[in-house]
Amino acid sequence: MNQRTLFLRHLAQTSPEPLLLEIERAEGVYLYGSKGERWLDLISGIAVSSVGHRHPAVLKRIHEQTERYFHTMVYGELVLSPQVELASRLVQHLPASLDAVYLCNSGTEATEGAMKLAKRVTGRPNFIAFQNAYHGSSQGALSLMGSDYFKSGYGPLLPGIRTLRYNHTLDLQHINHQTAAVFVEPVQSEAGYRPPCHAWMQALAARCKEVGALLVMDEVQTGFGRTGRWFGFEHYGIVPDIITLAKGLGGGLPIGAFVSSRDNMMHFTHNPVLGHITTFGGNPLSAAAACGVLDVLETMNLDHLETLAAPFYHIQHPLLRGISGKGMMIAWTFDSFDIVKQIIQHCLTHGLLTDWFLFNANSLRICPPLTITPSEIQEALNLLTQAMDAVMQFNG
Ligand SMILES: Cc1ncc(COP(=O)(O)O)c(C=O)c1O
Repeated sequence: MNQRTLFLRHLAQTSPEPLLLEIERAEGVYLYGSKGERWLDLISGIAVSSVGHRHPAVLKRIHEQTERYFHTMVYGELVLSPQVELASRLVQHLPASLDAVYLCNSGTEATEGAMKLAKRVTGRPNFIAFQNAYHGSSQGALSLMGSDYFKSGYGPLLPGIRTLRYNHTLDLQHINHQTAAVFVEPVQSEAGYRPPCHAWMQALAARCKEVGALLVMDEVQTGFGRTGRWFGFEHYGIVPDIITLAKGLGGGLPIGAFVSSRDNMMHFTHNPVLGHITTFGGNPLSAAAACGVLDVLETMNLDHLETLAAPFYHIQHPLLRGISGKGMMIAWTFDSFDIVKQIIQHCLTHGLLTDWFLFNANSLRICPPLTITPSEIQEALNLLTQAMDAVMQFNG
C-alpha cells in the first residue's frame, strides 16, 4: 500500500476531500513533494511558518537543545532555561502589564487557559465573543466560536456565552458586570482577514474597562509580526488584559502561551493550588525553537512589511471583487466558492499552495512566510494571475 492509501486508512480524517499532497521536505517559502514537485507556500501552514520553513536560526536552537534535554518534568516545577529565556524575552516586546507567561501547547489551549484565568480574576461566569470568531476546537474554545454550523452536533457547550457582531459599536452594551472576559481577534482571521475600525477596537477596550471585564486579545494568527507589528493589538493604541499566542511562536514546533499580569497569573497558585496544569506545555525543544524565532524577528525590520506586502494589495484582475487584510495576512474575494476552488486547484498543479477560510469560502488566503522576498512575491503573483486567467477562460 502506498503512503496515500495508508494515510486515508489510518489517519483520522476531518474533511471528505483532503489536499493529499505528499510532502518530502520544506525549506524557506517552498514545500517539496515526493515526485519532485515544488509549491510556493502562500499559507505558512496557516500562519505558523512565519520565519519560513526550517529557518537556520530555529534549526540551530533545536540542535543545541537536542544535545541537552527534552521533557524532564511537568510544566512549572523545574527551572528550564529555554522556557525562562523565552518568557523573559517575550515580555520585553509587550506592555509592562503583560509580564507573566503561561506556556502551553497550542492556540486552543491558550484560549482554554485564558478562559479559566478570566473566571478566577473576576469571579464572573460569562464570556463575550464575536460572529465569525475562531479561538480553537476544544469544548471551551468551541463555545466561543462565532458559527452555529461548526458548533452543531457538539452541544451542550458552555453556558453564559453571548456572540456579538464584530465591528458593531451598538452591540458593545451587552458587555456588562457579569462578563468575565471578551475574546477578540485584532484582525478576524477565519472571517477572511477582516480588520475592524480603529474606533471600534478602542470603544471595545473602553467598555471592558468600564464594566471590569477582561479584554482577551487572540494573537494566535496575528502575533509575531504577521500584521507588521509584533502584535496586532499595537495597531489600536490599547493594552489587553490577556493575550493568547501560538502558531508563529514555535517556528514550526508546537507551542502556545497566554500572557497576563503577574498578579492575575498568581490566581493559579491557590484555592485550588495547581489551578491550571499541563504535562507538555512549554516543551523545552519547542521553547528553544521559539527562542530561535525571536532571534529572527528581533533582527527583522517589521516596518518594511507593509511595503513588501503591497503588491498583494494592489493587484487588479477582472475576477477579483475585493482585497482585505493587514500586513502579510491578505484575503482576495471572488464571486463564489466555485471560483476560489478552481483557482486553488490551478495553483496547486502549477506550484503554489493557497487556501480558503473557515467562515469565508469566497476568499483566497494569502499568508506567506514573512521572510518571503520581492522576487518570490512576484513569482506568486504570476502564478495567481495565470490561475485567475485560466479560470476566467474556463468559465467563459
Ligand atoms: C485566531 C485563532 N485562535 C486560535 C486558534 C487555535 O489554535 P490551535 O489550532 O493551535 O489550537 C486558531 C487556529 O487556527 C486561530 O486561528
